[in-house]
Amino acid sequence: MSNLLKFPDGFLWGTSTSAHQVEGNNHNQWSEWEKENAERLAKEVINYWQPWQQKKFPEMFNLENYISGRSCDHYNRYEEDFDLAKAMNNNAYRFSIEWSRVELEEGGFNQLEIEHYRNVIKALKIRGLEPFISLWHWTVPVWFAKKGGFEKNDNIKYFVRFCERIISEFKNDVKFWIVLNEPEIYTSHSYLKGTWPPQKKNLLAYLVVFHNLIKAYRKIFETIKKIQPNSQIGIAKNNIYFEGWLSPIIRWWWNFYFLNCIKTHQDFIGLNYYFHNRIKGLKFNQNKNEETSDLGWEIYPKGIYYVLRELKKYQKPIYITENGLADAKDEKREKFIKEHLYWIHKAIQEGVDIRGYFYWSLLDNFEWDKGFWPRFGLVEIDYQTLERKIRPSAQEYAKICKNNELIT
Ligand code: BGC
Repeated sequence: MSNLLKFPDGFLWGTSTSAHQVEGNNHNQWSEWEKENAERLAKEVINYWQPWQQKKFPEMFNLENYISGRSCDHYNRYEEDFDLAKAMNNNAYRFSIEWSRVELEEGGFNQLEIEHYRNVIKALKIRGLEPFISLWHWTVPVWFAKKGGFEKNDNIKYFVRFCERIISEFKNDVKFWIVLNEPEIYTSHSYLKGTWPPQKKNLLAYLVVFHNLIKAYRKIFETIKKIQPNSQIGIAKNNIYFEGWLSPIIRWWWNFYFLNCIKTHQDFIGLNYYFHNRIKGLKFNQNKNEETSDLGWEIYPKGIYYVLRELKKYQKPIYITENGLADAKDEKREKFIKEHLYWIHKAIQEGVDIRGYFYWSLLDNFEWDKGFWPRFGLVEIDYQTLERKIRPSAQEYAKICKNNELIT
């Protein structure tokens, strides 16, 4: 027997992207890093990916895979892309404003780029898509990185100044601000594992950057509230469903520490859910992996339910700001979305205040150090012609968004 699961009235249905992953031709600390590291990344494939992945995605051996370049050219094609989002019956869209475009040189704000984003916002609103804007999705201007980026307490002021400018420009058009995207993922890759720019493996630097991001966030929250008192402000937080004896302490650090520090400074919680992590003894990631994505990440929909229940204690509205998988053949995406929505719905029924769902991602895009081969999009991109093609799973997502209900 089929079951009809209704979502609350006014529920937001959307997708997410980030500037550096889709716009094309950005010049920031990450694009600099790509130039220096593409060759190495192409060579390291053999140590990193399984034979089946190497066979399925031979492009991972190509140097160009690791250079963001023109990417999806979303910078020029955003209207076409928003038409697709609208055709999917979406009523919201999350994207980021690229700091390095707006302030390529220190203090030199570029009004033309600000106008570009004004047009982007207009294009969304015309199509009935509520903008959710991220102010930092990991990329920063080269000059800011050269000054030491978020490693220096004294540099926070530059990021605050950028945010202040953006909020002043768009305070009448945008209500939802996501100040930071996944600070814990960025700091752990960039400063603990040392695999992302600036590739430091230094526990102290990790802790300093982590805490400077907390300080920056709090300052920006206060700044935005002064300019736009009715704004809704939060971060996009990557929370993981941990299992095992060590999970209470790991959960405290990974899932809650940042949120606890900004408890008095947020209007909503953005949740990015991708991972389940079963800890056995002292070993992490001892997952059963019965089903995995192209990246080899376990598909574990029930985890989102546990993670949402954990967030209930903050008593804030929650938006799922990211959830998705790499699935080039689109074989698992429909089931993935439906099963996650099933567990989200269950959490809503149990009193968790969830107000929206943004699938990651609208388009296939540049997946950071992995490059272009992982395909997260509801819309497929042909990187030769830049042609967009709606995947079958997107048609299914469109039905859910249209009716505000899931049929299981
Ligand atoms: C990030 C995205 C990324 C996605 C898939 C999230 O951690 O915010 O930028 O593309 O995961 O890896």
